[in-house]
Amino acid sequence: MLTEISRKRTETGTKTKDIVTMSKKKIVVLTGAGMSAESGLSTFRATGGLWEQHRIEDVATPEGWHKNPGLVLEFYNQRRKQLITALPNAGHLALAALEKDFEVEIITQNVDDLHERAGSSKVLHLHGELTKVRSTGPGAEVFELSPDQYTTHLGDKCPKGYQLRPHIVWFGEAVPEIDNAIHITGQADVFVVIGTSLNVYPAAGLLHYVPRTAPVFLIDPNEVIAPQPHIAVIKKGASEGMKELTELLKAYR
Ligand SMILES: NC(=O)c1ccc[n+]([C@@H]2O[C@H](COP(=O)([O-])OP(=O)(O)OC[C@H]3O[C@@H](n4cnc5c(N)ncnc54)[C@H](O)[C@@H]3O)[C@@H](O)[C@H]2O)c1
Repeated sequence: MLTEISRKRTETGTKTKDIVTMSKKKIVVLTGAGMSAESGLSTFRATGGLWEQHRIEDVATPEGWHKNPGLVLEFYNQRRKQLITALPNAGHLALAALEKDFEVEIITQNVDDLHERAGSSKVLHLHGELTKVRSTGPGAEVFELSPDQYTTHLGDKCPKGYQLRPHIVWFGEAVPEIDNAIHITGQADVFVVIGTSLNVYPAAGLLHYVPRTAPVFLIDPNEVIAPQPHIAVIKKGASEGMKELTELLKAYR
């Protein structure tokens, strides 16, 4: 459906004609661990601040890595093993389907690849990707793991001889993609937040960069922020919530 029309006048010989270009409205979506909960990947909150029975300090910080790199590598090997059998849920699929009527950009805090596997074409991973590893040497070169070689162990090195580590942004590390995420957020015609406790910064701060004119929807079965007049809360899980949102978004096409 036509959503926004921009007209350009062009000269063709002596005649002037209008060229009508249709541009879709842009929906920017910020997702967190709750997005993948219905795919069987657990969130932090569900497990009392633990990630799959592990303390965050042990498996998702530079200190944890220096203390016990073998444990950290094995933790992410297990997450990859879990990811192989996980499938995108109805929420992921509904987000991908929105691309028919909107330009959709997803900014995800998730390290899984379920948005991509659901068919979403623009996904920015703020906190890294399970399917990649990177060198601990200068330049921090990134390498894609092939699904049949989905593990990394102590002694696995990059071509320059440096130990490989998970391509994950750990707590306490810089978030290299945050400027891109801020830029994308600033272009939103509609902003959607799904399945994040909004406890992790700078991701949670993206809400401050949403243009004032853009409606904001938040899908989460739990209350994550105090009610605010400009945020429409859909208090449901990702799949049910996306069903409701898809209907509501028809008004914005
Ligand atoms: N799948 C993953 O990639 C994964 C899983 C666990 C943790 N993490 C990492 O942990 C950090 C945690 O921050 P966070 O805010 O993303 O997660 P979080 O665990 O802090 O919060 C999860 C949110 O999801 C909500 N939720 C639970 N079930 C849901 C459902 N069915 N549908 C929708 N929402 C649901 C919870 O109410 C909560 O608000 C992120 O940095 C992320 O990288 C990633």
